[in-house]
Amino acid sequence: MPEQLEIAQLGNPVLRKETENIPFPLHNPHIHLMDNMLFTLKNVNAVGLAAPQVYISDKLLIIAPAPNDKYPDAPSMSSIIMINPQLKWLSPETEDGWEGCLSVPGLRGIVPRSLYVEVFYTDTDGNCNNIRLSGFPARVFQHEYDHLQGMLFIDRVKSTENLATEKEYIRMVQG
Ligand code: NI
Repeated sequence: MPEQLEIAQLGNPVLRKETENIPFPLHNPHIHLMDNMLFTLKNVNAVGLAAPQVYISDKLLIIAPAPNDKYPDAPSMSSIIMINPQLKWLSPETEDGWEGCLSVPGLRGIVPRSLYVEVFYTDTDGNCNNIRLSGFPARVFQHEYDHLQGMLFIDRVKSTENLATEKEYIRMVQG
C-alpha cells in the first residue's frame, strides 16, 4: 500500500539542496518513492510534487495539472512522472500567475513564468521523452523543476508586494 509522505517546509535545508541524478535501472526504493509521491499528491489535491519536498534529494518530479479547489481553471491532464528532467527551452514570452506550494503553507505569490517550455525527461520505463508544455502545465513544470535546483516560488516573485497570505488571496480572487 502506498503511504502519505511528510512534506518538508520552508526552512528545511533539503529544499535548498542541488539534487542528484537517478541511475537506471530503477531500484525498489525509487519505485516505492514514486508510488508514495503520486499517492501523496492526489491526497492533498496538489498539481505537482518534487522529491526534495518529501526529503529526497533526487531529480524526480510529478506534474498533475487538474482542476481542484485551489486551481479551478486548471486543465485536466494525466499525471506525468519525470525522472532526471532537463529544461531544454523556455519561451521568452512570460505570464504572471498566482502560485502556492505545499512546502510554503499559507502563502501565495504572483510569479512570472515562460508560457512555453520544452522538456527532456526519462519515464519510469527508462524511455527518453521530449515534450512541449504550455500555459498552466508549463507553469507547474517550471515550479517543480525549480525545486530540483533548490529554488522556491518565493525566490521568483518580483517583489515582496507580490506575496499574500492564503486568506487574503482567497478574498482577492473571490472579489
Ligand atoms: Ni512547490
